Amino acid sequence: MAPEIDIIDPNVYERGGIPHEQFTWLRDNDPVHWHHDLNDGVPGFWAVTRHEDVVTVSRNSQLYSSHVRTSMYEEFTDDEVLLYGMMMLFQDPPDHTKNRSKVNRGFTPRMIKQLEGHIRDICNELIDDVVERGEACFVEDIAAHLPAYVICELLGAPVEDRQKICDWSNHIIGFADPELAGAKEKAKVFAGELMEYAAQLAHERLAEPRDDIASTLLKPDESGERLSIEEFQLFLLMLIIAGHETTRNGSVGGMLAFFENPDQWAKLKADRSLLRTAPDEIVRWTSPINLFRRTATADTELGGKQIRAGDKVVIFYGSANRDERVIEDPFTFDISRDPNPHIGFGGGGAHFCLGTHLARLELNVLFDTILERMPDIEPVGEPRRLRSNFVNGVKEMRVRFTPS
Ligand code: HEM
Repeated sequence: MAPEIDIIDPNVYERGGIPHEQFTWLRDNDPVHWHHDLNDGVPGFWAVTRHEDVVTVSRNSQLYSSHVRTSMYEEFTDDEVLLYGMMMLFQDPPDHTKNRSKVNRGFTPRMIKQLEGHIRDICNELIDDVVERGEACFVEDIAAHLPAYVICELLGAPVEDRQKICDWSNHIIGFADPELAGAKEKAKVFAGELMEYAAQLAHERLAEPRDDIASTLLKPDESGERLSIEEFQLFLLMLIIAGHETTRNGSVGGMLAFFENPDQWAKLKADRSLLRTAPDEIVRWTSPINLFRRTATADTELGGKQIRAGDKVVIFYGSANRDERVIEDPFTFDISRDPNPHIGFGGGGAHFCLGTHLARLELNVLFDTILERMPDIEPVGEPRRLRSNFVNGVKEMRVRFTPS
């Protein structure tokens, strides 16, 4: 008998994070499960919980569309469909292929490696701000700033603009938090301001290119393709939506995993070379993005179930990352896991996370710096989780450490 927990009830996630017991039952007994219609008239969906099936859906964007009208739960207004529909996260091939090929060159391992020194400086500055106090909120004081400041580095934005961009970014992603009053309206206003800023920055980089990723993407490649000013504006907005909340919750989830598994913290302290494999284990363990929704474009079969054209199909990365069919001993947090076949960055299809190398580097440098500067960091009280089934997040996590 399935445990009686609704796998998309946000309250369940707020109370205890991803409901692993329920997902384990589904993987074993009903891996492509029909979830009944939702109370507010939103139709039901197929819940895909096994690693193998999540990969199948991810790798077939023709059969499982990511188009904006089909990919989120809430109904968008026409304006929003127009805006989000221009972002590649919500596009299908061939539009997606064309847009993705314009930005891939900015995110290669070589381009990202160049950011390492800057990321280290940012981590040190964030720790400088709290280290004398001996206590902090890991989310507010550290994890919330890091991804936004790194996006500023990608842009080559001046240091004095960082806080402004971080504030815009926090408000834009704030729409994921139902506790913030008027969050959606505020997100719109701040998105508008960010887009204006992006246009101005693009004009500056076009007039005077620099050694940053923004200048690279605005410059024509060998085939003459480049981002237009409008495309650059949307790209920046998408980077914030896709790269901020994810990395922030990856960092917090990683810290929490170390608190819950002190043997792994001790192991990392003793052998920093494990910083190479630890980031992927953190992403597997945390699954900062728990799910994405697709829509079937034709009748098909998945895991023995008949899927009809138009059916919603929800892929659960949080479940797939604990699938014992693919991951050995999946309920053990093991930072030396190698190979690590997790799919926390996506199941490997066209939409596979553009920021994978960057996210890995941010997690690597962050934990290296914490080990250096606050090695005895420990939790104070219980963390407060986000009320969301989409982002596996923590809102507040108090920590203490020896002041220095
Ligand atoms: C897409 C996870 C960090 C940019 C995605 C997807 C996932 C994901 C699950 C969807 C994959 C799919 O549908 O197949 C994560 C996690 C991160 C992270 C867990 C951190 C721990 C970042 C960062 C950036 C970024 C740092 C950039 C600054 C993107 C973009 C897409 C994407 C642009 C859309 C790609 C496309 O549609 O082609 N990410 N991400 N992500 N991510 Fe990440």
